[in-house]
Amino acid sequence: MEFGGPCWLIHGSITSRFAIYSIGLATVAYVPYLTWLIWFHPLSRFPVKALHGKYGDVVRWAPNELSFACADAWKDIYDRRKDGKVLTKDPVWYRKDATMRAEHIVNADDPARHAEIHKMMAYAFSAKALLEQEDLILQYTGQLGEAIKEQSARGPINLDAAIWTLPIVPYFQYWLTPKAVREGGARYAMESKEDILRGERDGPKSDRIDFVSYILKKRQELNITDSQLAAHSNALIVAGSETSATVLSGLFFYLCKHPDVYAKRKKEVRSDFTSADEIMAKGAEGLSYLTACTNETFRIYPPIPIAMPRVTPKGSCTITGCFVPEGTVIGVYVWSVTHNPENFNDPDAFHPERWFEKSDNLDASNPFLMGPRMCMGINMTWIEVRVMAAQIAHMFDFELEDKTFD
Ligand code: HEM
Repeated sequence: MEFGGPCWLIHGSITSRFAIYSIGLATVAYVPYLTWLIWFHPLSRFPVKALHGKYGDVVRWAPNELSFACADAWKDIYDRRKDGKVLTKDPVWYRKDATMRAEHIVNADDPARHAEIHKMMAYAFSAKALLEQEDLILQYTGQLGEAIKEQSARGPINLDAAIWTLPIVPYFQYWLTPKAVREGGARYAMESKEDILRGERDGPKSDRIDFVSYILKKRQELNITDSQLAAHSNALIVAGSETSATVLSGLFFYLCKHPDVYAKRKKEVRSDFTSADEIMAKGAEGLSYLTACTNETFRIYPPIPIAMPRVTPKGSCTITGCFVPEGTVIGVYVWSVTHNPENFNDPDAFHPERWFEKSDNLDASNPFLMGPRMCMGINMTWIEVRVMAAQIAHMFDFELEDKTFD
């Protein structure tokens, strides 16, 4: 029997009658709604469910959502606009509640509240404060080096430390996540909250200033609840771990796939430094070929490849000259804009030289976004990636075990 086929409603049970009424009601309510959505909605002129490659730079990919793949859209959607209009974060995507998803730096959608939180955290992310934490980054790089040394003595190793977490529509996330994982997540959030509160009560274990120290200082002034405190800390862990791991793993993959690039990068690192220990944040900044390879990895394999959704303001606005009604969810689809041949010649090729040649539209690649909600961890990421990639390249030679791996 086919689900929903003619046999589905044969018995006059309460269930089947209920089903008939429901379908009838849904038909009455939804057919006009769907007709309006498809033909009369203000966004109906944009093709539904289309790919940018087929339909162009603007695609209507959900009833009330537009995806942009053109470089100019970056400024119009995410930066401070000349007309003063502000596109805020989509409250559905950046969901909040009073417990596990309490307000934090990433999901705060009210611009004034976000500005307060941003100010509270700004110093922790400044280049100066991060250099004070450099020893920590060096310590972890050392641990990674040791682990590679130990494991490679036993055979090939899996460097692919980055695990993709698929962006699942928030509505369905709860139902699609196995119960054990959901409960594990809740337990983890509770435990980390308890941990931070214990730290606040008993005082810090060391003199080292970290991100949470800055939040604790302003906690009372900004009315930060216990749940918000834990949410900030969890948000920072999520924002800063998977992303950096992804770019590092992508970088090593593309280097191994391109022996000529690999050789150039190795020569640069080994001629600029006589040992891996010498490589620190300041010195690594001068590794221009490594920087180009990293920029190219951010472009071809962006750690956040999707569109970060924003809502158009009251009274509508214009994006790249295109009128968009108020209340529409829009974003620049990162993967599409960085693989758009209008922006990058031969976009699927890993070609770090393009960052020196400057014949492409390099401004089209913004893995950290731009404007007031731009990533606060950009400086930290560059320190981590440059130091780790350079030190590891100094210590080891790599090659892909399976050369056909793609
Ligand atoms: C490869 C590395 C990284 C990439 C590509 C990246 C990318 C991004 C992007 C695209 C956003 C905007 C998200 C949105 O609009 O919802 C963002 C926000 C943010 N990121 Fe990162 N990130 C990286 C690493 C880090 C690190 C290491 C930290 C440090 C903990 C960090 C902290 C943050 C914070 C605090 C925000 C929120 C900023 C705000 O709304 O004011 N990120 N990041």
